[in-house]
Amino acid sequence: MRAIQIAELSGPDGALRAVELPEPEPSHPLSPGSGVVVDVHAAGVSFPEVLQTRGEYQVKPELPFVPGSEVGGVVRSAPEGASVKEGDRVAAFCMLGGFAEVAVAPEWLTFPLADNLDFAQGAALVLNYHTAYFALKLRGRLSDGETVLVHGAAGGVGTAALQVAKGLGARTIAVVSSDEKEAVARAAGADEVVRSDGPWKDQAREISGSGVDLVIDPVGGDRFTDSLRSLAENGRCVVVGFTGGSIPEVRVYRLLLNNIEVVGAGWGAYVMAKPELERDIGQAVRRLVDDGYVKPVVGARFPLSQAAEALRLIDSRGATGKVVLEVAGS
Ligand SMILES: NC(=O)c1ccc[n+]([C@@H]2O[C@H](COP(=O)([O-])OP(=O)(O)OC[C@H]3O[C@@H](n4cnc5c(N)ncnc54)[C@H](OP(=O)(O)O)[C@@H]3O)[C@@H](O)[C@H]2O)c1
Repeated sequence: MRAIQIAELSGPDGALRAVELPEPEPSHPLSPGSGVVVDVHAAGVSFPEVLQTRGEYQVKPELPFVPGSEVGGVVRSAPEGASVKEGDRVAAFCMLGGFAEVAVAPEWLTFPLADNLDFAQGAALVLNYHTAYFALKLRGRLSDGETVLVHGAAGGVGTAALQVAKGLGARTIAVVSSDEKEAVARAAGADEVVRSDGPWKDQAREISGSGVDLVIDPVGGDRFTDSLRSLAENGRCVVVGFTGGSIPEVRVYRLLLNNIEVVGAGWGAYVMAKPELERDIGQAVRRLVDDGYVKPVVGARFPLSQAAEALRLIDSRGATGKVVLEVAGS
């Protein structure tokens, strides 16, 4: 099969190699001896793959390896008792190995794909939407009628968080850096949009009345203290990632004085040992798809052979929604 490997840790420009590899066995490290084999039609590309080309992500497989954590495709084979079967269209989280014509995922991380979503949207569904649901509902304890501020709101996690928050009955404020990203955030359902280089903290307090109830932060960096300042009493700031580069530090007296919380949300680390919980998240996201709230935003599509360009787009802060590699037929 055709695949893309990370062969050296020199960044998106030099790290990738196009290779021919044997097809994988129906076994996954998270379910040894068992796994759903998927004919990949589309592979999702995300920030972690950019970091992996530099050896800067927490998952550091031995070189060379095939990156790609999630795919949309058709089941070629599934273990007995699985909720999917041969021929089913699926969204699957394979963790690694997605930049290839065939990938393997654990049965409990493979989900039937709704008819109204294409394969590229399937490749955009698990990582970002399960993270968004986990961050908003399970870690952030979002309730109906609360106000949520989303940083990096035109990105993969950001657009997912906007859609899931609307589905959970929240009012949403998006923080973005450009006109193009503002349009993407509005299309993803943002009620209000503010600019990251403007007085967004004051605007958020004004829009919400007494401060926002929840901040979803995949960006980190310098804006973190203002995120805390934008919270209402009992507000929660959910830490999701650090695309801004630096990892913020919290002066905890702010939490005491304002009765607010900082909450971490690491979806992968949490669910990997909890298949039942992950199935529940899958069902909750599926309900939001069926109710029309979740419709993954695919911003750019590249053929598999142009994986480096896909990574460069994310690295240059140019991506909107999810970046996807079209694998079958490309
Ligand atoms: N915790 C978890 O379980 C989990 C799961 C999935 C992903 N993540 C993490 O969440 C983060 C976001 O992932 P994503 O897929 O949404 O990324 P993305 O699509 O590239 O979006 C990230 C957004 O960050 C903003 N940003 C601010 N400064 C930036 C900079 N210097 N470089 C690049 N972007 C910058 C950009 O928005 P503006 O230009 O509008 O500012 C951009 O749209 C990543 O760190 C990823 O590893 C965490």
